Amino acid sequence: MTNNPPNLDLDIQAAMAADGDHVWHHLAQHKPLDGKAPMMVVEGKGMRVWDASGNEFLDAVSGGVWTVNVGYGRETIAKAVYEQLVKMNYFANSMANVPGALFAQRLIEKMPGLSRVYYSNSGSEANEKGYKFVRQLAAMKNGGKKHKILYRDRDYHGTTITALSSTGQIQRKDQYGPFTPGFVEVPHCMAYRSPNGDDPDFGVQAAREIEKVILAEGPDTVGSIVLEPITAGGGVITPPEGYFETVQEICHKYGVLLHIDEVVCGMGRTGKWFGYQHYNVKPDIVTMAKGVASGYAAISVTATTEDLFSEFLAGPEESLSYFRDISTFGGCAGGPAAALENMNIIEQENLLQNVTDMGEYFMGRFGELKDKYQVIGDVRGKGLFMGLELVKDRKTKEPVAESVTAGVAADCMKQGVMIGRTNRSFETFNNTLCLSPALICTKDDADQIVDAIDNALGHVQI
Ligand SMILES: Cc1ncc(COP(=O)(O)O)c(C=O)c1O
Repeated sequence: MTNNPPNLDLDIQAAMAADGDHVWHHLAQHKPLDGKAPMMVVEGKGMRVWDASGNEFLDAVSGGVWTVNVGYGRETIAKAVYEQLVKMNYFANSMANVPGALFAQRLIEKMPGLSRVYYSNSGSEANEKGYKFVRQLAAMKNGGKKHKILYRDRDYHGTTITALSSTGQIQRKDQYGPFTPGFVEVPHCMAYRSPNGDDPDFGVQAAREIEKVILAEGPDTVGSIVLEPITAGGGVITPPEGYFETVQEICHKYGVLLHIDEVVCGMGRTGKWFGYQHYNVKPDIVTMAKGVASGYAAISVTATTEDLFSEFLAGPEESLSYFRDISTFGGCAGGPAAALENMNIIEQENLLQNVTDMGEYFMGRFGELKDKYQVIGDVRGKGLFMGLELVKDRKTKEPVAESVTAGVAADCMKQGVMIGRTNRSFETFNNTLCLSPALICTKDDADQIVDAIDNALGHVQI
């Protein structure tokens, strides 16, 4: 860890005190903080951030929750946002604005088969729009039927009560019920923990489990299924061979809309613009948020097909049959201005290729760590999105306790490297270390990250 003090002054001490007194932090247990602020991040540049004491950290999780895809300190994004804000910062999105129109066009160019973009400003909200499409379609076209939405064990779709209702993480949901009716869980598709052992056909079988749920619920009651292309906070779960292709076939067979939640994978994280583009699927709804503007502005998108959009083209006599939804801050013009420049950077710096190359490099190095440490049960991922599942015993696959992954992350932090981990999501499976460095990651950065994990695993007590 190097000492490279940013512009520290008394204001930071005052801000730390104010934080300790007044801020209620996300996902934080405040008692151990004892009225003090948690680490205050005061500066960021590229892949690195500095705390209020001037300590430098290499951020391997893009702002903690896989968000800052193009890295910190991007002046061109800040300028694009500044110029847009002084010209026209906001008008409700029932009117048009220039960056909103231009970003929609650029985005749709990357998503063949989709044609419409609906703006809001968080991943949860983007998903809720997708759910509202389904509920309204059920009301308008199917006499209220086809209103059910399927979601998958281990997936996360957001923090609001309805987004949580569609989340397959028991600890995230615990104590927040009762939940919104009409959401039905289907089994996960994690090959490492397949109930059928190492069956090469597991992908198809896992998808067939979805079909069983559709048949049990009644196909005329099921409107859509929401899936992460690669499950993120649920343990970085890559889909097995044949999974998505079979899901697509089942969706067509039963008239179920396919909603892909790209809130984490979207905008280059896996080496393609979107995670689903690795698989042979044509989604009806795609949601995205975090990497869309890399955290330089709050923006989220619910993208759909022209077919779905046309269902809402009611005539004036049907006064309620259009999408009667508004997101106040979906009209902030700074969001799409930031998103346009974010996309320019990804293209100009050829970052999708970098993600693919660096992802392969990481996988090679993690393979070496797996040979060295029995505690690594499985290494998964795509592009710069990776997970290491830790187990007590490779044969039984018994997961390590959450305190073990917490200890590894804390040890890396002491070495100046921030890594992530699944936390408080499941009763037993909070056992995966998560990595999602910015798309600009170099080989040297990758080595620093892997070396820190190597050192930490050398000390770990199981
Ligand atoms: C896959 C996925 N979907 C949705 C969300 C919710 O996004 P937000 O926190 O912006 O509401 C998240 C957040 O982590 C996520 O990982």
